[in-house]
Amino acid sequence: MSDDDVQLEARLAEQDVFEPPESFVEQANVTDEGIYEEFEENWPECWEGAADLLDWDSDYDQVLDDSNPPFYEWFTGGSLNASANCLDRHLDERGDEAAIEWVGEPTDEDDITYTYEELHREVNEFAAALRDQGVGEDDVVTMYMPMIPQLPIAMLACARIGAPHSVVFAGFSADALATRMNAADSEYLVTCDGYYRRGDPLDHLDKANEGLAGVDHDVETVVVAERLREGDGFDHDYADNQVAFDDLQSEHAGASVDPVSRDAEDMLFLMYTSGTTGEPKGVKHTTGGYLAWSAWTSQAVLDIKPEDTYFCSADIGWITGHSYIVYGPLALGTTTMMYEGTPDYPDKDRLWEIVEEYEATQLYTAPTAIRAFMRWGSEYPDSHDLSSLRLLGTVGEPINPRAWKWYYQNIGDEECPVVDTWWQTETGGMMVTTLPGVKDMKPGSAGPPLPGVDVQIVDVDGEEVEAGRAGYLTVQKPWPGMLRTLYKNDERFIDEYWREYSDVDSDDPEDWVYFPEDGAKIDDDGYITVLGRVDDVINVSGHRLGTMEIESAIVGVEGVAEAAVVGGDHEIKGEAVYAYVITEDGADEDEALRQAIIEGVEDAIGPIARPEAVIFTPELPKTRSGKIMRRLLEDIANGEDLGDTSTLRNPDVVSDIQAKVSDD
Ligand code: WTA
Repeated sequence: MSDDDVQLEARLAEQDVFEPPESFVEQANVTDEGIYEEFEENWPECWEGAADLLDWDSDYDQVLDDSNPPFYEWFTGGSLNASANCLDRHLDERGDEAAIEWVGEPTDEDDITYTYEELHREVNEFAAALRDQGVGEDDVVTMYMPMIPQLPIAMLACARIGAPHSVVFAGFSADALATRMNAADSEYLVTCDGYYRRGDPLDHLDKANEGLAGVDHDVETVVVAERLREGDGFDHDYADNQVAFDDLQSEHAGASVDPVSRDAEDMLFLMYTSGTTGEPKGVKHTTGGYLAWSAWTSQAVLDIKPEDTYFCSADIGWITGHSYIVYGPLALGTTTMMYEGTPDYPDKDRLWEIVEEYEATQLYTAPTAIRAFMRWGSEYPDSHDLSSLRLLGTVGEPINPRAWKWYYQNIGDEECPVVDTWWQTETGGMMVTTLPGVKDMKPGSAGPPLPGVDVQIVDVDGEEVEAGRAGYLTVQKPWPGMLRTLYKNDERFIDEYWREYSDVDSDDPEDWVYFPEDGAKIDDDGYITVLGRVDDVINVSGHRLGTMEIESAIVGVEGVAEAAVVGGDHEIKGEAVYAYVITEDGADEDEALRQAIIEGVEDAIGPIARPEAVIFTPELPKTRSGKIMRRLLEDIANGEDLGDTSTLRNPDVVSDIQAKVSDD
């Protein structure tokens, strides 16, 4: 670091409030602070503006129907098509402009630009193909694909014909794919032959096939996008129901499919996410409310304009990619970027090279990535011209002030506001963050709730806590982007998100409070700092993993009797998986078993859930009522002082486990 950098860092370290940069404010989409009050006074009609960002086939009669909480309905009576909103309506003015700039991982190949015209054509052809394969309205089509262009093409093709998609992250295991296809009764799969990681081809179809073997109903069609270049492919014979993406598309070359008019409340997609129990939750999002929410937040928070080249480095396999690579940006007619690979291949400046080459105007990424950039050092961003950037964003987990300031200084050159956006798969889009042209930023705090979003931090009884005290984050009023239910499981929807703070027998929406299962605190200015999950879900590199899911994978390994999984602090990942394992009588606590456990987790969920440490222990610390003391296991993982352990049934076990962790 140069002396100037050191001085700058020292100055920033002192500062805890940052005004929006003037150059940004001058051109921002939202600049009037009055919007907060206006939305509060005019709620829920304030959301008409979000709906106005879309083209409707028929107007809605009612903004919000709250007659049957928590089954809220938004923009009822209206109809629209999401693919028409993301494509057709931009053709006249922006047909020749780039819709998607796709960057492949290997550096020695041509990247692909899809203009709106081209993307529209691809989507139409694939929509015709899907229909021809028998996909009808409301049939769930599963996609198990990495960051290749066929993924958004397939998603928009589904949206065009009114078939909900369910995208399964490509890094998930074969088992995870099977579980999700079974849960959704999905008879169609779109996948690919493989993709590139660190320059090497990776077989994906093999994993998809293994997953298909675990599907408990007939699968009509498996479409395989052939991503691997000539000579890089793996040997696969296609089964009778398998067909190449390109072949299907060329059979329908030039086809045109009328977008199906969908009711605002019709399902646009399902997204499975981890919960407290082992079974993943099928979060249902709708066409009208979700699309309005992703478009409005893209405009108000990410400041997206049609002429931008906007870059979100998330994977489309997660909600961030759905809302802020595909639907929000395309609904606004901008250019959205997609990068296939990792940020450190071929070198640790790959993202900065991409930003420079494409003159990206926004970068939306995750704290885990920012922490890695920080560790790699500022010489990587410094070697590129990043002056095209206008705004920076972060999502997925809390960002500490140091990482925030590093991002602000080294990537944004103090000219770009940083939006720290709190939201969830279930909320559809952003909920708590600063409006970048209006609000001061406070590193470490996401910010106030967005206008029209009613968040309160409460105690166990649902009473608001004082500023500075830790409590639970709750959302007191519905919002258009909210999940409508868990797929085919209304009861679990109520149990998971509402029961805690609602009077579930009441018909009065005032009695219903949404609980996202996050802890938080609020300051005197109404800025919210999110403290993390309060359920048994851990956040590894910004990805939600249920501890129960991991535990059940471990218990499935031969020789394991019992397991407890917790998150321990990790410098880059945020949290890492710590597995405490009790073996069955006679099983050896050896390296072979440890490997089998790690593999068992990778097979059941995927490499992201790989345990950082497997700790064999004769017992788990339990309360007198037999409940595992997870908090204690977390403290042990983090090497913290444990304080009073006398309420345990078996206090001695703690020091034994501690000794083992420090040996590892
Ligand atoms: C966490 C990702 C702190 C939180 C969009 C939430 C955050 C979970 C932030 C949702 C943030 C997300 N600050 N924590 N800015 N953003 N989280 O469903 O615990 O994958 O409940 O959605 O991530 O994760 P999900």
